[in-house]
Amino acid sequence: MMIFDVLTLFPGIFVSPLQESILGRAAKQQLLQVRLHNLRDWAEGKHQVTDDTPYGGGDGMVMKPEPIARAIADLKAKMPHAKVLLMTPQGKPFSHQAACELAGEEGLIFLCGRYEGFDERIRQTLVDAEYSIGDFVLTGGELPALVMIDAIARFIPGVLGCSDSAATDSFSDGLLEYPQYTRPAVFSGMAVPEVLLSGDHGRIARWRREQQLRRTWQRRPDLLQSAKLSKEDQQILEQVQRESSEAEK
Ligand SMILES: C[S@@+](CC[C@H](N)C(=O)[O-])C[C@H]1O[C@@H](n2cnc3c(N)ncnc32)[C@H](O)[C@@H]1O
Repeated sequence: MMIFDVLTLFPGIFVSPLQESILGRAAKQQLLQVRLHNLRDWAEGKHQVTDDTPYGGGDGMVMKPEPIARAIADLKAKMPHAKVLLMTPQGKPFSHQAACELAGEEGLIFLCGRYEGFDERIRQTLVDAEYSIGDFVLTGGELPALVMIDAIARFIPGVLGCSDSAATDSFSDGLLEYPQYTRPAVFSGMAVPEVLLSGDHGRIARWRREQQLRRTWQRRPDLLQSAKLSKEDQQILEQVQRESSEAEK
């Protein structure tokens, strides 16, 4: 069972997303466990203060290092190999690849910031990796931690009902996924592509691959630089590129 420890000032934010749907079922099946910890439990004094004003002046508050250091020491005493991940817009971009790799860990400790973020010394001494979920700033690290837990959990064996569904998702082979359709066969005058109704699995597979390449070329051409493409893929791609440059003329 994979363990996710979360250090936060707002554990309530996590409750519903972790109880519902796939994550809730995975927890019931003991494939994963998310343990929520309130950082205030490691703060001192009557007011259990976890933040203070910044040295040098300026707006906002900074999260104090001592409660976080004590919390991490306690969690690590129980799980010495757990990796500590700090949520920050300054971290490396979280990705499909990172989710897949992190799913191989036995335990992860998520450090969720608030206010202006963390005292720099936390980052320097207590953290194994820093992650950002995108080039924007949120009010806290709770949503980034939830996003990461969700993406990582999909790689834990047994978490997804149909074991194949992760294999064809976008990014799994470096490309975006092909378009999907379900009933009805005609909706608002738009028919499902005939090939998908043909029952010919070879044709369907070729159509889907072509759609993947076409869609990735149109929406995320940057992904094609590192995708592993067969000779046939290259030919399809050249055809798609030719078509699009002819359409522009
Ligand atoms: C208001 S932000 C602090 C931003 C910080 N002053 C900066 O400019 O880098 C508060 C907390 O939200 C979390 N956070 C905000 N945006 C994030 C993002 N894009 N990815 C990961 N964590 C984020 C971090 O834990 C951060 O400490």
